Amino acid sequence: MNALPDAPATARNRDAILAALQFELRDCKSVFEIGSGTGQHAVHFAAAMPWLVWHTSELAENHDGILAWMKSADLPNVRPPIEYAAGGVVAITDTFDAVFSANTAHIMSIAEVGRMFCDVSRLLRPGGIFCLYGPFNEHGQFTSDSNAVFDSGLRSRKSSMGIRDRQELNRLAAGNGMAELRRYAMPANNQLLVWRKPAQSIV
Ligand SMILES: C[S@@+](CC[C@H](N)C(=O)[O-])C[C@H]1O[C@@H](n2cnc3c(N)ncnc32)[C@H](O)[C@@H]1O
Repeated sequence: MNALPDAPATARNRDAILAALQFELRDCKSVFEIGSGTGQHAVHFAAAMPWLVWHTSELAENHDGILAWMKSADLPNVRPPIEYAAGGVVAITDTFDAVFSANTAHIMSIAEVGRMFCDVSRLLRPGGIFCLYGPFNEHGQFTSDSNAVFDSGLRSRKSSMGIRDRQELNRLAAGNGMAELRRYAMPANNQLLVWRKPAQSIV
């Protein structure tokens, strides 16, 4: 098995995210994570929320790292990665009580973000919630100088990357039958946004 990959930011942000998720996911039995990255969030959150099953997903090239973290953590409630790429073919037929994703919306193109919201609305059971963590703009404005610098770095790496506007995400959510439920301010000018699919689905 490969060495454990490390994304240092996960150690800095995981406890603030966890505090919010412990409330949002208190009645959930299953969570599907989009873009699990190294798998460090998955094992940290699953260990702290033993009442739910954490389903990981990633691009195929990142599966070995997630499997290595799963092996190291040896938890009964983390499932091996499913191949999921927003914008690609989605072969997942299961539904989940919640979907979680961290730091993915600014990596995906805006078209892929749109596909993610469409997929999330199908992956969620009626009444399910979507929790999305990351940096977000407000009405087209950066919320901090550090986010502006971060955005500039992203766009110079790849022009389709960039910090997304919360209002645009709300429009994508609404277009897929979900409504903003709550939002949490997080350290380092990040936020956790939560949308809910109605119990009586309209999509
Ligand atoms: C910045 S990393 C965040 C990883 C992890 N969630 C975290 O917070 O440490 C972004 C992740 O999104 C994944 N990703 C990129 N494009 C994607 C897409 N179209 N659909 C799903 N995941 C994607 C990448 O493979 C990468 O692991």
